[in-house]
Amino acid sequence: MINVEVRLDRDSVIGATDRRLFGAFIEHLGRCVYGGIYEPGHPKADKNGFREDVLALVRELAPTIMRYPGGNFVSGYNWEDGVGPAKDRPARLDLAWRSTEPNTFGTNEFLDWCRSAGIEPMLAVNLGTRGGDAARNLVEYCNHAKGTALSDLRRRHGYEAPHGIKLWCLGNEMDGWWQMGTKTAAEYGRIAAEAAKMMKWIDPSIELAVCGSSGRSMPTFRTWEDTVLEHTFERVEFISLHTYLNNYADDTPAFLASPDLMDHFIEEVVAIADAVAARRDSAKRIMLSFDEWNVWYRTRRNRAKPGWPVAPSILEEAYDMQDALAFGGACISLLNHADRVKVACLAQLVNVIAPIMTQTGGAAWRQTIFHPFSDFSNLGRGSVLRAAVHSPTYSADYLDPRGTVENHCPLPAVPYLKLSAVRDDRAGTLTLFALNRHLKEDMTVDFATRGFAKFAVAKAHQLHDEDLKALNTAKKPNRIKPRPLPDITLRSGGLRATLRPASWNVIRLQGGS
Ligand code: AHR
Repeated sequence: MINVEVRLDRDSVIGATDRRLFGAFIEHLGRCVYGGIYEPGHPKADKNGFREDVLALVRELAPTIMRYPGGNFVSGYNWEDGVGPAKDRPARLDLAWRSTEPNTFGTNEFLDWCRSAGIEPMLAVNLGTRGGDAARNLVEYCNHAKGTALSDLRRRHGYEAPHGIKLWCLGNEMDGWWQMGTKTAAEYGRIAAEAAKMMKWIDPSIELAVCGSSGRSMPTFRTWEDTVLEHTFERVEFISLHTYLNNYADDTPAFLASPDLMDHFIEEVVAIADAVAARRDSAKRIMLSFDEWNVWYRTRRNRAKPGWPVAPSILEEAYDMQDALAFGGACISLLNHADRVKVACLAQLVNVIAPIMTQTGGAAWRQTIFHPFSDFSNLGRGSVLRAAVHSPTYSADYLDPRGTVENHCPLPAVPYLKLSAVRDDRAGTLTLFALNRHLKEDMTVDFATRGFAKFAVAKAHQLHDEDLKALNTAKKPNRIKPRPLPDITLRSGGLRATLRPASWNVIRLQGGS
């Protein structure tokens, strides 16, 4: 048994969560779109071909914003191929995923799907093979009311009212060699600044996310952010971050420690963005869009078989219990930076490194990572408190490869407890998200709370399994699911909870305001 103490003060707040912190991502990749959200002819498809069984799970998962259409795919995408009568749309080679893109699903279908799901859309423009001209045309097509060739084209396509898309990504991972149209920071910075200028001339109400590094282990990380923001600081609201946690080394303690590197990554990008602001003597603060994050390693090198198939079964990572734990740690890292991370997108939504899996023509089910995300999104909204955590620590050596180069990230003092506490005044709740990273020991956590009235426990559940490799499958879709968390003792000025080894825990207290 290990003992941890946590102090929480009602008024010591990191920041309020933005609605868009709880987003996800749909890319034209593998079976994410075709056979995932969209499958005309499936017994559960609606009149648009949207799978109702998937929509029901998406509503339960509750993402708030959805990034589209890529990802690496967007860097070769001609948006014009995906609008207008489906029979006239061209099939194209997608070089990112070595597939054939039939273009039967495009921007308008995506926006219709978002409306069905009650989710805000977030579009990425192609700054890989294309540039500012195609980007400004897409803004005009989507957001201009009428009376121009492109806005009237949208109206002829059946969309009289402008789509009013608010948030846009200026390309994707433009620092990566794998990207179509990779650029240096200076090349990208100039192109992004010009694209941003034209896009905002058309619709000044939009917000823009410029590409940061595609990972913290990129050799260009830091100078990339600095240079790109030097070019774009005045024209953008956000800079992006991407992270995929891995357990290549089969070192579970290090894997569970790895979300702490997301904390470092966020804090480093904030420091660079604020240094760019300081050089300008500017009060403007660039916010962070963590618009790709997840666990991903088993299918990292997975590509379509030769022959340019349509919707190949690639990147279909089967998530186990320990993945859900690392994933929960990532949710906590995002919550604990709610002051600066205003947008975040779980990559991705269905089939492709996803919380929801489907069989084409068959069933849909929840992967293990579905559960911490659902907790994060449904229960994580409010003001995040600055928790003082006094936990025993361990040291870890996490491997974050740079291509084929080993890259060791030493983490000398990882607290066994990773925690976030969110106060929601409207609901009158205090919600605790707690990850016990000790693989063998139960953990008692004594919470001392200040400034709260008397609590009752409204909800308490845990995700735990003796077998860290257990997972959910089509045959056993509920092998891993939340179960009640017993052993919570309320007392004046706090509570005590006992957490199982290697467990994700959520405690929602009511009436604490
Ligand atoms: O999410 C899968 C891929 O990971 C995305 O297409 C790309 O942006 C990232 O490298």
